[in-house]
Amino acid sequence: MTSNYFSEIRTKANELIPFLEFLIDLELPWKEHFGFEMIPIEDCWIEKETALQEIDRINPIKHLGLLKIPKKSFYNWHVDDFRQACINMLVSKDHHSYSVFGKHKSKYYYNDLTELNYKPLTYYLFNNQENHAVINLDDKDRYLFSLYFKDELPYGILQKKLKDLIV
Ligand SMILES: [Fe+2]
Repeated sequence: MTSNYFSEIRTKANELIPFLEFLIDLELPWKEHFGFEMIPIEDCWIEKETALQEIDRINPIKHLGLLKIPKKSFYNWHVDDFRQACINMLVSKDHHSYSVFGKHKSKYYYNDLTELNYKPLTYYLFNNQENHAVINLDDKDRYLFSLYFKDELPYGILQKKLKDLIV
């Protein structure tokens, strides 16, 4: 599915998922990153993981990371300060949490909500400049793989550049 909010990448995740699941089970030095807790992932995964390699050839990737939103948390409505668009993939499975985009309507309302219902093992081009929020209602933390591109480009431009990789 493609929209102004997100676009599904065709090539599925491969070895990165078991690696991230292994990491999640360790005691990790999480650092705060714009309200998220984050740990960097080694750049070598750009070459090892086919989908990332394909993306990197078209628009080079700067770095990779794993983000955590604690259980029973709400990450408030925002647009990102330093990112125009990125690639995201949900690592958590069977999880009671939601990633939503919406239009700011008034002081109390965001309307026209659209959920990014992450498919398993699936990367998405994500528009960080549209209002989005995450609610984690689960008893477990929520883990998301994400990245930065070397050049910050608007979502629409990246969507065109990556069109052959998008479902
Ligand atoms: Fe964000």
